[in-house]
Amino acid sequence: MRWWDIDPVLELERDLFPEDAWSRGMFWSELAHARGPESTRCYLVAESADGRIVGYGGLAAAGDVADVQTIAVARDHQGTGLGARLLAELLRAATAFECPDVMLECRVDNVRAQKLYERFGFVPVGFRRGYYQPGNVDALVMRLTTGPDSGTAAGSDPVQGTEIND
Ligand SMILES: CC(C)(COP(=O)(O)OP(=O)(O)OC[C@H]1O[C@@H](n2cnc3c(N)ncnc32)[C@H](O)[C@@H]1OP(=O)(O)O)[C@@H](O)C(=O)NCCC(=O)NCCS
Repeated sequence: MRWWDIDPVLELERDLFPEDAWSRGMFWSELAHARGPESTRCYLVAESADGRIVGYGGLAAAGDVADVQTIAVARDHQGTGLGARLLAELLRAATAFECPDVMLECRVDNVRAQKLYERFGFVPVGFRRGYYQPGNVDALVMRLTTGPDSGTAAGSDPVQGTEIND
């Protein structure tokens, strides 16, 4: 994800997370740490063959632990395996950052996302009460301890014409 991707990403963000969409400033501040030898972030966008951004995801590394900060797929591309591809790429980034543990938070009512994470081996480890505001929705905290082959088991089949770039 580059700064010029932020506008189209924000459009998706507001559609997919209407209650707790990230602001432009949050994406800018994440991207500020996503390049160069000291980088601690990996932010990806998926672009369809016609150049439209149809998905994105971001991961932050801190010590041994990486956090999946966000992952989202445009409504008309959901269910095509793109979410799995993005997650696989983020897990590869966690390995590149030398983070054996990957954590994430997910709304307790977001069963679809939880199923995706479970397919990759994430397990629930707790709750954060009222994590999502203003709706006061709890977060399920999930964790994956990665091995050398992690991130490649699911979602590695490229969907025709959709490219993932950092
Ligand atoms: C959660 C999210 C990222 C998943 O992305 P996705 O691209 O739909 O995920 P996938 O296609 O990889 O997998 C989803 C389902 O499609 C199925 N699927 C995967 N490839 C498929 C294909 N080629 N054809 C048909 N179905 C397919 C998967 O089996 C999976 O089924 P399941 O619902 O039984 O788990 C997406 O739904 C999304 O953006 N949701 C809104 C934002 C959000 O909630 N983000 C997560 C915050 S924690």
